[in-house]
Amino acid sequence: MPEDLKFEVPAERVTALQASAQRQGDPDKGRAYLLTGDYVDSGIPISLYKAFLGNGVTDELQRGGINEGIHHEYNAFTTEEGVELVAPNCLQCHSSYINNELILGLGNTNANFTMDPSAFSGILDALVISNFGEGSKEWDAYFPFSRAVKATGPNITTETIGSNSADKLAAVLASHRNREDLTWVDDPKIALPDEVIPTDVPAWWLLKKKNAMFYTGVGRGDYARISMASSTLTLKDTVKAREIDEKFADVVAFIHSLEAPKYPFPIDMQLAEEGESLFIKNCSTCHGTYGDNWTYPNYLVDLDFVKTDSSLIHSNFGFGQFVNWYNTSWFGEEPYSADLVPSRAYIAPPLDGIWATAPYLHNGSVPTVDELLQSNSRPEIWRKTANYDQQKLGFSYDLLDAKEDVQTYDTKIKGYGNGGHGFGDGLSNSERLKIIEYLKTI
Ligand code: HEC
Ligand code: HEC
Repeated sequence: MPEDLKFEVPAERVTALQASAQRQGDPDKGRAYLLTGDYVDSGIPISLYKAFLGNGVTDELQRGGINEGIHHEYNAFTTEEGVELVAPNCLQCHSSYINNELILGLGNTNANFTMDPSAFSGILDALVISNFGEGSKEWDAYFPFSRAVKATGPNITTETIGSNSADKLAAVLASHRNREDLTWVDDPKIALPDEVIPTDVPAWWLLKKKNAMFYTGVGRGDYARISMASSTLTLKDTVKAREIDEKFADVVAFIHSLEAPKYPFPIDMQLAEEGESLFIKNCSTCHGTYGDNWTYPNYLVDLDFVKTDSSLIHSNFGFGQFVNWYNTSWFGEEPYSADLVPSRAYIAPPLDGIWATAPYLHNGSVPTVDELLQSNSRPEIWRKTANYDQQKLGFSYDLLDAKEDVQTYDTKIKGYGNGGHGFGDGLSNSERLKIIEYLKTI
């Protein structure tokens, strides 16, 4: 392509997302609630957690108090009945390490959904009963957590560590909730397909630019309301939901305060500068511009144009019964209503800190940016290693002939496909290198 020509994106292939009103919140209060609050309000009695799960753990977040010695992916708190509990928090999926530093908001590519956790809940039930008794306040405080793990665990297993089934989890939890008052029902009220179509986890620092949530842009309306989905794991009813909802405006304010981490290795600024003009010609129409006067078009790009794996479009937040449940449930109620608006498209995401968020595409099927920009070079079956690839920008990996274990990513499995996004294919090798150098600076 001649240097001066801009990559043509047909106007009918993209839809600009419109912003929706958001509540104001206090980021410091939000951080505190996120890391110590009881938005997942049932869990494991703290003495059992310390004896069996969190033995010898130090708290990376240095929260102190009751959270002393609690792993950062859990919050400890005291219930109204005076029971000290430990429950999973958002960082299970939304935090990860770079160079041994814990980065809040970075998707956790080591989160493991390949095992059904309900296999362990029988053992945990027995421990709670033998330590406290079945009629105890500890059992009552623990029970909603156990019930949810048993109901959801068998329905959310994935093929590869890092492939995240949170979207399916949200749908399964909805099927166990009355939509008006959110109370629990044992027999699912809506029928969901068995398939588990996983996603990657988007970095939290991107949210502030986006006019819709999730890879498919399906999450519209109040972000705080949408973001409290995890609470349906255990909450009793809409009285508790309202209490959490009020605090979640602060949590979203905290998420909005996060910035992308800076690239920690050397950058060739001459190459990067040349890369910037190539990026503006070939990529900015969809991904925007960066720096002080940044722009971001907020485009949903038609599936038939981006041509990446299509399974997510019809799954999870695309299940008709779940969409209907959600939009007519408490979540859709004013004030601060949220709704799900499915479409046949993927968001062209902001690329801030893209170096840190491998693997790429909505399903995490492509280990490096270099291969994302050269679709015929993408590995079919791969397993990431512990190393970072500074040339290709992303995970170093081993190429395999067949799927060997839960660390192996096999792009032939339904929902795990690595096709599409051929928008870099017309670049020469040197142009691609320059764009990659530029991406290190944003
Ligand atoms: C079990 C893993 C998991 C947990 C726990 C979890 N999330 Fe997420 N989260 C995800 C995944 C996966 C996505 C992407 C889903 C998609 O786009 O389809 C996501 C998306 C989001 C987004 C949207 C980001 C964007 O740019 O569109 C926000 C905000 C968010 N989560 C907030 C939270 C908060 C707050 C909590 C805790 C209350 C939480 N999440 C708990 C896995 C999780
Ligand atoms: C027509 C719009 C469009 C153009 C042009 C385009 N992209 Fe994209 N890009 C997208 C969409 C849509 C996605 C998300 C697809 C998905 O996840 O299935 C994406 C995803 C990406 C991702 C992965 C993001 C992530 O977090 O996984 C990178 C990196 C990227 N694009 C870089 C580029 C570069 C560099 C160029 C220019 C050479 C470019 N794109 C051109 C629409 C576009």
